[in-house]
Amino acid sequence: MTSADSASKIICAIDTGDPDEAESLGRALAGRVGAVKLGLEFFTACGPTGVIRIAEGGLPVFLDLKLHDIPNTVAGAVRAAVPLCPALLTIHASGGPAMLRAAAAAAATAAGEADVPRPRLLGITVLTSLDDDDLAAVGQRGPAAEQARRLAALAQESGLDGVVCSPREIAALRDLCGPGFLLVVPGIRPDWAAADDQKRVLTPAEAVAAGADYLVIGRPITGAADPLAAARRIGAELGDPAEAGA
Ligand code: C5P
Repeated sequence: MTSADSASKIICAIDTGDPDEAESLGRALAGRVGAVKLGLEFFTACGPTGVIRIAEGGLPVFLDLKLHDIPNTVAGAVRAAVPLCPALLTIHASGGPAMLRAAAAAAATAAGEADVPRPRLLGITVLTSLDDDDLAAVGQRGPAAEQARRLAALAQESGLDGVVCSPREIAALRDLCGPGFLLVVPGIRPDWAAADDQKRVLTPAEAVAAGADYLVIGRPITGAADPLAAARRIGAELGDPAEAGA
């Protein structure tokens, strides 16, 4: 998975617990997107063997497990995930510096021992489903945008490779964390796609222009009558030469 060409910036979120559906989507999109994102629904239903099955389709896997526990347990979960060779793996930054450092160390050690690529670890900052009142209810200091910056800085200081952030946070986090820190962004909608339940969206080209490294796009691709055509159309909008004229 490289961020060099524009289609590889697209990560297709496959939000299903059905391994057959996920496998056929993954195979259809191979070569047209950079990776597929498998989350808690898929992992709970299909487990590690499901992840391996999707990876065999040829696309890198973003394993969105949003780990959050004591450092020893999170390190163990990271070690257990490494043999599945995910390109990206998520950890809640609010788990604190010791947990984040333990996760980063476990990823490096386990990848070295298994002689596989080290997954890049992404911090989850503030879930976009939480507003300032929700943060106060769980004792976190808002406003949400400020808390997201605090947690992104903590993730970076603790050895993570990047964060997942909302479209409206891209510019501030790019500024804060510099060019080498991965910003992986959901809430992306081409102007021809329905917003669904996403409230504040950017188009793929706007998000890349703002500084996003990878775009997490689900329903505009997976809900399209022709998912491959939808992915190619987004690739074309991002200037992918292979899709010129798509
Ligand atoms: O279908 P859609 O493009 O809205 O899917 C976006 C994906 O990104 C889903 O898997 C969703 O869970 C995830 N996500 C999000 N907003 C966040 C974090 C993750 O939409 N703040």
